[in-house]
Amino acid sequence: MKQYKIGIIKGDGIGPEIVDEAINVLDAVAARFGFNFEYHEFLLGGAAIDETGVPLPEETLKGVQKVDAVLFGAIGGPKWDNLERHLRPETGLLGLRKAMGTFANLRPAIVYDELVNASTLKPEVVKGVDIMVVRELTGGIYFGKPREYTPNKAYNTMVYTKEEIERIAKVAFEIAQKRSKRVTSVDKANVLEVSQLWREVVEEVSKDYPDVELTHMYVDNAAMQLIRDPKQFDVIVTGNIFGDILSDAASMLSGSIGLLPSASIGSKVGLYEPIHGSAPDIAGQGIANPIATIASAAMMLKYGLNEIEAADTIDRAIKKVLADGYRTKDIAAFDAKEVVSTTEMGSIIANYVAKV
Ligand code: IPM
Ligand code: MN
Repeated sequence: MKQYKIGIIKGDGIGPEIVDEAINVLDAVAARFGFNFEYHEFLLGGAAIDETGVPLPEETLKGVQKVDAVLFGAIGGPKWDNLERHLRPETGLLGLRKAMGTFANLRPAIVYDELVNASTLKPEVVKGVDIMVVRELTGGIYFGKPREYTPNKAYNTMVYTKEEIERIAKVAFEIAQKRSKRVTSVDKANVLEVSQLWREVVEEVSKDYPDVELTHMYVDNAAMQLIRDPKQFDVIVTGNIFGDILSDAASMLSGSIGLLPSASIGSKVGLYEPIHGSAPDIAGQGIANPIATIASAAMMLKYGLNEIEAADTIDRAIKKVLADGYRTKDIAAFDAKEVVSTTEMGSIIANYVAKV
């Protein structure tokens, strides 16, 4: 029997509810494919602050090195919003990404046919959208030094080294080779030196991938093009903050941010999480959509454990629940046959995993 050790970080807000459903689905996958998942829980964010006083405890940092992959929910909430920056939940997450070395954040934006009406854009604009945003995750302005806050002046630094750009570009080109073979590199090279280097290095790396077509786009134009004609994109590769912003924008093509997963890879152990936040306003009500986290578990199987068939099975189960008209509240207005709770959605997907 194949044994996998999975790190579990439930986090705050809706985190525990949605991660529990992903575990449900993973158990169904284990039963069908004869795996044994051993779950190891770690604290991060607000939950860690409450328990240990810091957002990223030493035990979490050590623990995640000993597992095969980490599944994570979401962190943060108003309770911890007024803490000093180094104690905030978000600082814990950034520290974890950096410590794990997961420099490549893959954020697919897929429009499910069953939900084309859920988008705020016209169905003909979004039908068939299938974009992969490759966001650099452990560099750029999020981590650049110097950085400082004073009440009269504050600053951050956007910095990328050639090596950092090379390795993220390679990830993007390799992914593009398995897709439609088109990469759009997004920067602000008309204004920023850091983007000038970004563009030069991506251009250089592209020479090793002659089968992939590379175009460059300024980030403001890219934001506009994503809304105007999203189907022009296949793989988008970009830096940390531009990727943060563009992936939120791209997520809404699908109709709900509650649908979209992510994989943070590039090192031995990957981190898999929905792209949405902890949604404290709806926590504990049983209405959160667990699909983004369940789809993140599928990405974990695919990119982290190389269990492609198991990953595809989860993706098929998700498509089938949507085709059969099961909807959580966020997408209830769109061709619903039955509106279901977080736990019901998880159970139905788990059932389908056994069959599809
Ligand atoms: C994300 C989030 C995080 C980020 C926050 C919570 C630090 O918005 O994963 O996109 O900005 O990276
Ligand atoms: Mn974000």
